[in-house]
Order: sequence, then C-alpha cells, then structure tokens
Amino acid sequence: MKATYSTIPKEYAIENPIAHSTYLTGGQINTWTGSIAEVYSSIQTENKDGQYGPTLLGTVPDMDEAAALEALAAADKAYDKGQGKWPTMKVADRIACMQRFVDFMKLEREKVVKLLMWEIGKNLNDSQKEFDRTVDYINDTISAYKEIDRNSAKFHNEGGVNAHIRRGPIGIVLCLGPYNYPLNETFCLLIPAIMMGNTAIFKPAKHGVLLIAPLLEAFQKSFPPGVVNIVFGRGRTIASPIMKTGLVDVLALIGHSSSAISLQDLHPYKNRLRLVLGLEAKNPGIILPDADLDQTVAECISGTLSYNGQRCTALKVLYVHEDIREEFLEKFTKAVDALHVGLPWENTLLTPLPEPNKPTYIKDLINDAIDKGAAIMNKRGGEVSESYCFPAVLYPVSADMKVYEEEQFGPVIPVLSFTDIQQPLDDMSSSSYGQQVSLFGKDVTKLAPLIDTLVNLVCRVNLNSSCQRGPDVYPFTGRKNSAVSTLSVHDALRSFSIRTFLASKDNETNNAILERLMASKKSKFINTDYIL
Ligand code: G3H
Repeated sequence: MKATYSTIPKEYAIENPIAHSTYLTGGQINTWTGSIAEVYSSIQTENKDGQYGPTLLGTVPDMDEAAALEALAAADKAYDKGQGKWPTMKVADRIACMQRFVDFMKLEREKVVKLLMWEIGKNLNDSQKEFDRTVDYINDTISAYKEIDRNSAKFHNEGGVNAHIRRGPIGIVLCLGPYNYPLNETFCLLIPAIMMGNTAIFKPAKHGVLLIAPLLEAFQKSFPPGVVNIVFGRGRTIASPIMKTGLVDVLALIGHSSSAISLQDLHPYKNRLRLVLGLEAKNPGIILPDADLDQTVAECISGTLSYNGQRCTALKVLYVHEDIREEFLEKFTKAVDALHVGLPWENTLLTPLPEPNKPTYIKDLINDAIDKGAAIMNKRGGEVSESYCFPAVLYPVSADMKVYEEEQFGPVIPVLSFTDIQQPLDDMSSSSYGQQVSLFGKDVTKLAPLIDTLVNLVCRVNLNSSCQRGPDVYPFTGRKNSAVSTLSVHDALRSFSIRTFLASKDNETNNAILERLMASKKSKFINTDYIL
C-alpha cells in the first residue's frame, strides 16, 4: 500500500530513519557496535527518484550469542539465587518502582503509537488502544498485587502449625512476545513477571521492535540493575543459547507452539522450567438457524477481520447452519466487500500486512482451497497488492484444505455449512487447538446443552459476541496447543510466582519468636503490614 509523503499527516510522518543502537543490561544502557538490522515498514513510500518501495524506518542492533549471555548473566546476578535486592524487596517498594515505570512510560505514548502504525500497520485507534490498555494493565496489576499481598498479611493455624503464606518469585524469566501486539502482549508477560520479584530478559518480537526503544530509559530509571534486560536480535541467536544454559526458570512466550517446543527442548532441566505460553488458535464461529443475522454479521466481521485477522483470538473458521447459509453468506460477503483498505492513520479496519510474504501466503491458501472445490464468495476476495490481499470468503471449505487446518493469521475466511451440530463439535474436539468459540443463536433449549459441551472443548464461549482476550481481568487461556497457564491481571501474578511459607509448631517458644520477628520488622517476608 502506498503513502505519498505529502499526504501523511505531519504528526505521523517518519522524517528520518531511526538509528537505534542501544540495549539495556545490568542497569546500563550500552551502545551496540556490532551488526545491525534494518527495519522496514510494508507501507510503501517514494524514494528520491519517485519510485515506491517499503519504507526504511531505521535500524536496530542485531545482537549475538555473547550479548544474549551477558543479559542472562545480568538477570542471574540481580536474582542472585533469590537473595538479590529485587526478589527480597518489600512489596510496597517493588510497587513504587512499577508506579515510577508507568509514569515514565506514559510520556512516550505518541512515539510508541506512531511506530505501532508504521511497524505493524495497526490502525491509529487500535494503536492508541494498545498503548492505553497496557498502561491500564500495569495499574491494574499494581492493584491486584496489593490485594494478593493484603490477603497474605496474616498467620494461619491448622493442625498445631502456624503458617505465614505468601507468593514468592520463581527466578529468571525469558520473555518473548508476538508481532501483532508487540507492546501489550509482551508487557502482559513482563510486568507481572517482574512485579512478583523475578528478573527478566526480554527480546522484542520480529516486527514492532523500534517501538520498544523509547522505553529503555524508563526501565533503566525505574528498576534496580539487572531486573529488566532488553536485547535485540533474532530469536534463534538470542533465545536459544539462553535456554541451553538451563538457567531460565520461566519461559514466557506468546507466539507459535513450534517456537515454544523448540525452546523447551533446549533446556537441560525440564522440571525446572515453568511455562507461561499463549499460542496459536483456530477459533470457530458457530451460527445456529435462529441467530440474529445482522448482529451475527457485525460480530463476524470484527471477529474475523479486526487488524486483518492477525489476532490469536480471531474467528478463523465459520460454521453456518444450512438453513441460513445463503442468507448469511449474502449479508456477510456484502459487508466484507464494503470494507476499506487504508493506511493506519486513516483508521480503516483493513491495513497493510507487516509480514512481506503474507499476501502471497494468503493467496496460496485461497488457490489451494479453490483447487479442492471451494469458491470465493465475495466480489473483491483475493485481490492482491504489494502489501495486501483483500479478504476472501471461501465456501464450501473441507478438511483437506490448508485454510481449514492452518492458522491463517490474516485476511481469509473459511466457511463450512452444517445440518448436524455434532459436525462442528467433532471438528473442534479433533482440532489441535482449544482457545475460544463464538456461538450465535437465541433458543435456550439449543444453547444450553451446547454451552455445556463447548466449555469443555475451549476456555471461553462467547455468546452472540466475537472472540477476544479482554477485558484483561478475565482469564485468558486455552486447551491443547493453544496455551499453557492462565493470564489475566490476577492470574498472571499467580502464574509468575509460587506459594512459599514459614511454618512453625504452635508452642510458646516458637510463638514468642514469631511475635518478636514481626515486632522487629527485620524480615521483609514475615510481616502483616496492610498496603492500602
Ligand atoms: O493475538 C492474540 C491477542 O491476545 C488477542 O487479543 O482479543 O484483545 O485482540 P484481543
């Protein structure tokens, strides 16, 4: 998609490429002098000769194994086998650091939003939402941690044993996020991880890298040295050697299960490694004969095509009851063809795809489906340009087609029809994924047993609503290859911590010691202070 310089609003223009050359390890913002990688936007702009091509946004360090291990050593030193300043810091003091960070972060909103638009092609509203939602997530995490801490500020007495139980850190976290939410989803891992007293190494996703640069200083100024270490480079070069050392206690990754599996395989001590993973999905929409079609079409449009379908929660296959198939397809294809593809600051639903090979991949899925008997149902379906492939509604889709099996993560919508509800249920139960489903219908006698089955096949059933992660206080997880652990503001704090406690037999000597321990305020763990 082309953007002529003179038409780009001044506040969103990239005047000069950004030569970002620093990284954060051990509390120092260091300059990288080794190889660098160019960062391009798939939005095409004109060069000096008036020729259009991908826009060079800047450069970032392309760091090597030694640099990765330096970051790991810094995280290891800061954790210091649980004796470091951060894992032993009082909860109230850790919260103060996090508060400072979020205050600094808010100052960088404009820069980050602009880079979200250029680097990953997310439209302006959604880019702003991603930033603001992340700030809210951090503030909510602070509140949730206070709540957890308040609930632990007491002693239990069971079976003649006194116990003071808290949640403690686990150790070193390797944090890897996805390109579709390079700020939000990465921070939804990183923030709870460090909030609980862990230390972290964080490598930005393959797209959405430059937008992390403005935040380096905020991290440096807010946390003790080595708590957050940020390095840039390829996953294989950075993450693999870190995993091989066996020093990582938690692999926190939102991305593809194949990456998660190969990284786990590198770790020499499997039982030491905790996994917090958000992986791929193939969420179906199931449309029953009595569904309100206008509402269903609107939800299916946002479900399948928000951010061009590049969301793990996107609806990636639609099952329509045969009785309403024709009417649904007519309304739905019309609605798809009425959508506009535009530049991110034009706030269209459809925007350039950041991955250079994505339009060809989507086109291949369409061709494969056509070869095997499907047709493109909408007029504009499959129109290809340099950085886009207009959404194609494909019908009838069958199990032998690639688009049925693969997580397309882009603008193509496979549709199947059914007469027996057991068909979509069987497909879901044999699928490798189990994140969410959208169920459209009104008759409670039909809905009730279906809901009872669907809740055991996925982890969120959306009634007459598209699938989504938020609100972030709700549990976000999945079955099978879709997730490991649960994320939500509250659950993430649990996922990145472990219960640990002091126990002592209930007798006079011990109880006197406990009282003196509390009164002395010398232990940061043993205290019943109530953080407001
Ligand atoms: O890519 C997966 C995201 O978690 C989806 O989040 O439902 O808020 O777009 P969302």
